[in-house]
Amino acid sequence: MDFQELGTTGVQIPDIGFGTWKYTGGAEPIHRGVELGATLIDTAEGYNNEESVGKAIAGFRDQVFLATKVSPGHFRKNDILKAADQSLKRLKIDVIDLYQLHWPNDAIPIAETMGAMESLVDAGKIRFIGVSNFSVGQMQEAQEALTNARIASDQVRYSLIDRSIESALLSYCQAQGVTIIAYSPLATGLGKLGGKSGAQAIEQVTNNTEKSQAQVALNWCLRQPRVMVIPKANSASHVEDDCGASGWRLSSDDLAILDAAFPR
Ligand SMILES: NC(=O)c1ccc[n+]([C@@H]2O[C@H](COP(=O)([O-])OP(=O)(O)OC[C@H]3O[C@@H](n4cnc5c(N)ncnc54)[C@H](OP(=O)(O)O)[C@@H]3O)[C@@H](O)[C@H]2O)c1
Repeated sequence: MDFQELGTTGVQIPDIGFGTWKYTGGAEPIHRGVELGATLIDTAEGYNNEESVGKAIAGFRDQVFLATKVSPGHFRKNDILKAADQSLKRLKIDVIDLYQLHWPNDAIPIAETMGAMESLVDAGKIRFIGVSNFSVGQMQEAQEALTNARIASDQVRYSLIDRSIESALLSYCQAQGVTIIAYSPLATGLGKLGGKSGAQAIEQVTNNTEKSQAQVALNWCLRQPRVMVIPKANSASHVEDDCGASGWRLSSDDLAILDAAFPR
């Protein structure tokens, strides 16, 4: 597993993390992922699974980088402070490694929300601040509202079939030293990876590389600096396959095949 810096934090995170939205795999796939280096585990108060994630990582908390999210309905100061305490309790941990605003909420002043996030850092309850589904403008406003801290990451949808971040957000984050945590990097399932031409392109590249379809799709995301991926997999065998997406690079010929079949 290759690692990369989270934002400008100095902390190393793996290329491949572990998504848990609609996760039903129990402890074993998570354990296997951690063994293989997929040590960033992503959950959210909105996923209603923090308790089971907490149980799965009990006993090896120190090997895991735990990312969770606060829901937009809790962006008032007191609500965030309470939500963080509740996530800590459900996860049975002392500190959240990355606390992310799940979606923007224009109804609540961003200064209040970011002030609360910074006070959680100061209180030692969270280590780093992240956002999710934020545009460039929303990222700028959120960063300006912080006094000392820097936004470490923006978690956004990115896959062969959704390249919309390539129009502006990706280059902004790369320039600012913000990590893109790519969600739904397998397009929520390999069957959704394009029509006939997409399927043909992926097959051609899997033949050229002797990698699996999932590995090709994930590695394609990783060709971009500052991007890591968080596929969700319910089985240890899928986790093993996904972890094999790190540590190699698609050739320029294979990238061109994929680019032609999955244009921006
Ligand atoms: N911030 C946000 O707003 C947001 C939104 C959506 C998702 N997310 C995060 O991103 C994570 C991943 O996204 P996602 O769950 O939407 O979709 P995804 O990771 O793109 O796709 C998951 C699907 O791919 C399958 N899969 C995984 N590895 C595979 C492999 N090696 N071979 C074949 N199939 C494989 C899974 O099957 P099995 O489960 O059967 O293994 C599952 O059906 C979520 O779990 C969540 O943590 C965040």
